[in-house]
Amino acid sequence: MTGPAGKREHWASRRAFVLAAIGSAIGLGNIWRFPYVCYENGGGAFVIAYFIGLITAGIPLLILEFGLGHSTQGAAPIAMGRIHPKMEWFGWVATGVGFVICTYYAVIMSYCANYTWHSFTLAWGDNPSDFFFNKVIGLTDATKHPWALGRFMPGVFIGLAISWIWIILSIWKGTKTVGKVVYVTVLVPWAILIVFIVRGVTLPGALEGLKFYLTPVFSKLAEPQVWLAAYTQVFFSLSVGFAIMIAYASFLPRKSDIVKNAFIIGTGDALTAFLGGLAVFGALGYKAHLSGVPVSEVVRSGPGLAFVTYPEIISNLPAPQLFGLLFFLMLLTLAIDSAFSLVEAVAAATMDKWGWSHRRSNLTVGGLAFLLGIPLTFGAGLHWLDIVDRFMNQIGLSLVVLGETLLIGYYFGSERMRTYVNGLSDFSVGKWWNACIMIITPAVIAWLLISEVLARIKAPYGDSGLRSQEFVFGWLILVLIFLIAFGLQGAKGKKAPEPIRNA
Ligand code: PHE
Repeated sequence: MTGPAGKREHWASRRAFVLAAIGSAIGLGNIWRFPYVCYENGGGAFVIAYFIGLITAGIPLLILEFGLGHSTQGAAPIAMGRIHPKMEWFGWVATGVGFVICTYYAVIMSYCANYTWHSFTLAWGDNPSDFFFNKVIGLTDATKHPWALGRFMPGVFIGLAISWIWIILSIWKGTKTVGKVVYVTVLVPWAILIVFIVRGVTLPGALEGLKFYLTPVFSKLAEPQVWLAAYTQVFFSLSVGFAIMIAYASFLPRKSDIVKNAFIIGTGDALTAFLGGLAVFGALGYKAHLSGVPVSEVVRSGPGLAFVTYPEIISNLPAPQLFGLLFFLMLLTLAIDSAFSLVEAVAAATMDKWGWSHRRSNLTVGGLAFLLGIPLTFGAGLHWLDIVDRFMNQIGLSLVVLGETLLIGYYFGSERMRTYVNGLSDFSVGKWWNACIMIITPAVIAWLLISEVLARIKAPYGDSGLRSQEFVFGWLILVLIFLIAFGLQGAKGKKAPEPIRNA
């Protein structure tokens, strides 16, 4: 049995840890991804599939990642390396996927920052679509020549720089600053979300929108696609498989409840997504009511929902400037803790490996991610962002989760990990957890990966067809992550290996 490793920093309180993990989980995925995916996959029936995914894969994986970080007291690379000395590279792959995501996540924050500013004057005017695509991100024609990238967009660049300064300041002293910042960045968006839920469901036409969102189409549950959508949404939304939760749990003090925290974080995140849907679909019902078209025609996801449809709705509300400001502030504060959790995970890995100071690792990781994000401030930015996002979230994430379940489930032993986390927790997780880790999650992921790769080979980029260079670009980033990860495994580190601690 070993004591806590040296001077490893700790969260100031259990609440700080729970808030930081919830802050990472709750992000743009809850507000614009969940409602749309839900509506597309059977509404109320999807909610059932989602909750089954949450219980059989999401929360079990959270428990796994918390157990892994707590027992090894290391961010992903050290954690994996302590499970098996030859597996450090795999932790670097997870860290690499997280790093790539944070390069473009900050760009989305920049869009939100720009819109927070534009809310004061309702600058999107009567044609929010033209405003977003032409004036804000400059996408006009850029997708026809994506390698030329299009115009430089100073607004997006300035927003990116501001976002990065904010991210770096939030994690300046690691858990010490994060633990304080999350009180604001988790509670503020929740408070604003309540305003939007009340506003959304009381608008004329809201009921039509809500019917659309939640009418259960139970026959959908017979379609494999719906289950895949539910499981992917669970992983993405809980931020598992990005090295984050491992790093966050590695800063837990010795006596920390793991099972209860995982349940609180998992259900808190799911509830926020579900309630977020009420706000979004209530407002979409209102838009349909205003324009006299069916709800199905106003439903969009992603950038289209946040930067085109919602601004249009806001312009039609009384006190539009106020609602505009609140909405984009909500998106910004939702995104910030997801963004800094990604940076923290990478920074913690560099601190573990080379014994860097907070300042040095934050500035190196943040500076590099900022530089890599600069190409995305040109006209074709959103196009490239979308390609990288699909590859990272669908293939990168699945590979990481699959590897984790196999390594812990079969090599380390899921029963051994279960005993470990139960020894720390108020209530115990039963043997069903082993089945989730050893069978259900890997089976779902393997299936997901196979169907994803097949789909990509057949129709690489949705209906628009991905040009072969872009397809190669997506794979190239993934291959690069693996190569760098192998290189880092061999690189000399500072920290002497330590045995895994016992509960
Ligand atoms: N969980 C976040 C969301 O729901 C997304 C995210 C994934 C953030 C991975 C950071 C890392 O929006």
